[in-house]
Amino acid sequence: MSVERVGVVGCGLMGSGIAEVAAASGATVVVLESTEGALTAGRERIVRSAERAMKAGKRPDTYLEELLSRISFATSFDALADRQLVVEAIVEDERAKIEVFEELDAVVSDPDAILASNTSSIPIMKLAMATKRPEHVIGIHFFNPVPVMHLVELVTSLLTSEEVAARAEAFGKEQLSKIVIRSQDRAGFIVNALLIPYLLSAIRMLESGFATAEDIDHGMVEGCAHPMGPLALTDLIGLDTTCAVALSLYDEFKEQLYAPPPLLLRMVEAGLLGRKSGRGFYDYTAGAK
Ligand code: 3HC
Repeated sequence: MSVERVGVVGCGLMGSGIAEVAAASGATVVVLESTEGALTAGRERIVRSAERAMKAGKRPDTYLEELLSRISFATSFDALADRQLVVEAIVEDERAKIEVFEELDAVVSDPDAILASNTSSIPIMKLAMATKRPEHVIGIHFFNPVPVMHLVELVTSLLTSEEVAARAEAFGKEQLSKIVIRSQDRAGFIVNALLIPYLLSAIRMLESGFATAEDIDHGMVEGCAHPMGPLALTDLIGLDTTCAVALSLYDEFKEQLYAPPPLLLRMVEAGLLGRKSGRGFYDYTAGAK
């Protein structure tokens, strides 16, 4: 049984991709953002992604039109009242996410609805306990770029019901055609627990003057056949998100390999967030090489 009514909270890099794949699967999608400006930017992201897919012949010419006919945009939580599944995809900030789950608990009327988080690293239990229905709260963690990456991590807390997990798994596997893996509720889950120490090591390597950004990235692309090097990937993920995920991991495990290096902290403070801000380890502004 497919999910027909999906909600997505947050329309940044991840939320816009989640809205796109949910709408492409035939569901109607209500996308929530805090301001009209953020909604306009999120809608633009969806349009650009759909246009790229159509231009590459990956999607039919009617794809964008179909998507937009199924996606509506709102700034009030009330618009999510009738949703069967809501995916929260706001900034990686525990307090802010808890507030979203409190709002969702108050507004989503279907007692069977699934309340999911796309968090990269925050334990699901912390979000579940912000609601009076922790058995309906689960992690559905997508990867960037969402329409292109095949993987979804499903994260059940100690209190998530198996029936909810099975429905969320069917949503990922059957409805979105993703590959679903299951993880215990530990900060970072499977992929980020492995990926983040690798990205931080590359930043430390750059910071120590060991090698240039280009050589570090070429090393991993040409030597290990990765689609992109660790510094380019950090730019794609966003330095703020990478840093927030590292801090969650450090907070959970207290292990040095998860501690964000000073260079990452300084770049985040400087607003050098990667592709989304135009500059990170590389320059993405027009005219830059
Ligand atoms: N729908 C369907 N297909 C689409 C699409 C869309 N909206 N947009 C693009 N595509 C297709 C393209 O047509 C292309 O298809 P092709 O390979 O058959 O030609 C393919 O997707 C790749 O798209 P691009 O042409 O834009 O891109 P590149 O070839 O330059 O690859 C990349 C870009 C996919 C980002 C690749 O470099 C890559 O895989 N990088 C690694 C990404 C990665 O590791 N992501 C995980 C990050 S970690 C994360 O997200 C977790 C978080 O919690 C931190």
